[in-house]
Amino acid sequence: MNAISTSLDSSTEQLWAVLRQTLAQIGRRHADAVFASSFGVEDMLLSHAIFEAALPIGVFTLDTGRLHTETQKMREVVQQRYGIDVPALRPDATVVAAHVAEHGEFGFYESVDLRKACCGMRKVEPLRRALQGRSAWLTGQRREQSVTRTELPEAEYDTVFGLTKYNPLAAWSVDQVWAVIHALDIPYNPLHDQGYPSIGCEPCTRAIRPGEDLRAGRWWWEQKLSKECGLHAGNLHDLKG
Ligand code: ADX
Ligand code: SF4
Repeated sequence: MNAISTSLDSSTEQLWAVLRQTLAQIGRRHADAVFASSFGVEDMLLSHAIFEAALPIGVFTLDTGRLHTETQKMREVVQQRYGIDVPALRPDATVVAAHVAEHGEFGFYESVDLRKACCGMRKVEPLRRALQGRSAWLTGQRREQSVTRTELPEAEYDTVFGLTKYNPLAAWSVDQVWAVIHALDIPYNPLHDQGYPSIGCEPCTRAIRPGEDLRAGRWWWEQKLSKECGLHAGNLHDLKG
């Protein structure tokens, strides 16, 4: 199943083996653990490890209603490759309609507050629902992704949502992620090949130019330190703390 091509160097192969052990351990420790997948490349790597080993970790996605078509199609890609229907949590349609009626379809460009309000109703509230009553969740965050993530631990207590949070790829480099993706032929969002290392909602994500940092295309009109959407608000507390 997990045969690795010779293109993977021994340290990355070791990292991959350790990752699978870590995920299995999390599954044993928390029978109700869930993984939030945006279908970005890190999340495809983690999903692959979870699905191939049939680990008891539920995978879900947050469908904000503003995703690229390419991202929406990834659910189908996953279904075809792994035979798994990844459930999508969606925002409350009444709340969204009221917000759009008051602030317009693109209010998030006007201020950080309006942007956070949009992320709040489209991502954070559905995430809160997904995590309700659970003891652990997992993410695909990595330290090198952003100035807000340089201190990211592999395991932490998530004070915002009140449960354990695992970031098993915290120490991975982007090259290590891609090495495993290619070695195992893991499917990925085609936008990654079009200059999008980090993919969020369509109106809030642009392609980056050579030399720009990995998240330069996310909320590019904002200062770097405001660039967390509430899913990982704890990262900002940690910086201030
Ligand atoms: S974000 O908070 O700025 O959007 P980013 O895109 O870097 O985060 O993704 C970091 C992690 O947050 C992902 O690996 C995933 O675990 C989670 N995440 C982000 N967006 C979603 C989404 N739409 N659905 C589920 N999980 C998500
Ligand atoms: Fe709204 Fe943009 Fe946040 Fe998506 S990323 S929820 S469109 S503000």
